[in-house]
Amino acid sequence: MNTHTHKQPTTKLGIRYMIPSDTPRLLDIQTPTLIYTNTNEQTPATSLRGPYRVGMVAETHEKEKDLIVGFMIFEPTAPEMQLITLATHRDHRRQRIGTTILDTLKSKLQDGRTGERRRDRIYLFIRETNTPGQIFFRSAGFKAVQTLRGHFTDTGEDAYKMLYTLGGAR
Ligand SMILES: CC(C)(COP(=O)(O)OP(=O)(O)OC[C@H]1O[C@@H](n2cnc3c(N)ncnc32)[C@H](O)[C@@H]1OP(=O)(O)O)[C@@H](O)C(=O)NCCC(=O)NCCS
Repeated sequence: MNTHTHKQPTTKLGIRYMIPSDTPRLLDIQTPTLIYTNTNEQTPATSLRGPYRVGMVAETHEKEKDLIVGFMIFEPTAPEMQLITLATHRDHRRQRIGTTILDTLKSKLQDGRTGERRRDRIYLFIRETNTPGQIFFRSAGFKAVQTLRGHFTDTGEDAYKMLYTLGGAR
């Protein structure tokens, strides 16, 4: 053990863009909750495929180790961004990590400089059975606006389209 370092352990949360070597570590977060995620794709790596997909991770630094405790994958298109999936590690839930990740996405709504590039909405498709997820997004200002029958091909479940609009207007 290196007793000469004076780096303080911290539980401070950092949000950064995902790098390819992160994806195996995301499986720890994704696998037990796969049925609850918003995508028909199987892993974070396959969810990331696609020309506009971007991933971000939430990381803490504890006991000299970086620990990924949450992530999201989204499409930063305009004027609407799609949140493909967002998950917090099951041992770290109800600690506002999901909220912090979502706040990072919401902050991207402010980026637009011109009318053309402006983003003012985030939408997602959530499984009808994912009640905790629906409560989470509702508490973050999202509203269910549409039902898509049989959207999730793995289980045949319906999806609710949930929408967050900058300024709260529809
Ligand atoms: C949904 C999820 C991302 C929430 O992450 P989290 O880090 O625990 O969320 P937060 O701590 O920021 O919760 C914020 C608020 O959302 C609501 N909420 C979150 N989880 C909830 C739950 N299981 N039951 C009821 N309300 C919940 C609460 O209002 C909570 O505030 P509170 O803790 O002060 O009561 C997490 O449970 C998860 O990863 N689930 C599996 C994957 C998933 O379903 N993702 C969503 C679809 S992609």
